[in-house]
Amino acid sequence: MSIRHFLSTQDWSRADLDALLAQAVQFKRAKLGRSLSGRSIALLFFNSSMRTRTSFELGAFQLGGHAIVLQPGKDAWPIEFDAGVVMDGEAEEHIAEVARVLSRYVDLIGVRAFPKFQDWAVDREDRVIRAIAKYASVPVINMETITHPCQELAHIMALQEHFGTTDLRGKKYVLTWTYHPKPLNTAVANSALQIATRYGMDVTLLCPTPEYALDPRYMDFARRNVAENGGSFALSHDIESAYRGAHVVYAKSWGALPYFGRWADEKPIRDAHKHFMVDEAKMALTDHGVFSHCLPLRRNVKATDAVMDSPRCIAIDEAENRLHVQKAVMASLVASC
Ligand code: CP
Repeated sequence: MSIRHFLSTQDWSRADLDALLAQAVQFKRAKLGRSLSGRSIALLFFNSSMRTRTSFELGAFQLGGHAIVLQPGKDAWPIEFDAGVVMDGEAEEHIAEVARVLSRYVDLIGVRAFPKFQDWAVDREDRVIRAIAKYASVPVINMETITHPCQELAHIMALQEHFGTTDLRGKKYVLTWTYHPKPLNTAVANSALQIATRYGMDVTLLCPTPEYALDPRYMDFARRNVAENGGSFALSHDIESAYRGAHVVYAKSWGALPYFGRWADEKPIRDAHKHFMVDEAKMALTDHGVFSHCLPLRRNVKATDAVMDSPRCIAIDEAENRLHVQKAVMASLVASC
């Protein structure tokens, strides 16, 4: 029997995602359970985290399981991922052994591995989590690589809570690029695009120039999702028309893919678009729209204090929902083994 991983929501059917969200609602109502009794999860963090680490560790505990955090290169051995290499560099062991050994100890493996930000052609292959999934004999969960599927579920759950319905069709959804002094991962933007179109919303990707469009893989997912689920998808560089009448504004900053590895060349374009920051004037154009962000967020750079402190900001609800949806994912994967 093949192992079921949680690497991308695109690998899961709408019915499966709806079932995870329904289970998450149950976990939000009654937080303690025994679904992971006697079970364990290894959480491999190649990058920093606050929400993901806390919510996975706590979620495992609340379901009677145990989480073990490992930070390769810090408190665990540095790992090699390429096949057939002479390992005479920094790495002390190969992912083939790491994944196989962890699979003998634990029931699930979570992985956070961001791009290296030097060559998008390499990073878009998502080779770290793909290698772990290849060698592991237990389910692997994406804790953010080049997508962030747990954030997707938490986001949809927060929107469903806010609008009081699981049916989000007809909502005008704006995914807006925001300024940040550094070029950031496209993961959450890729994820927002695919999950918002998956749930049938009318989605606008608002970004400064065509160079900030997302990888064609995710633009294509969005178009395919629209064909299958209804709704619409458009790319815009016009702030006013994108915001006007919106029901949802989701903000994220990311680096322009054509400039991968040449970030000094991207900086002047980025710096010319600081006015993409989400503020009260832009939110006033919406149809009583809600605002959210995956967090962490630099206040008064990505969004103003007034937007973050507004009752229409649901970012904290979304962050809380990470706990509930991840418990649903862990329980579902353990039950499938
Ligand atoms: N949103 C999110 O994944 O937060 P952390 O980076 O703090 O885990």
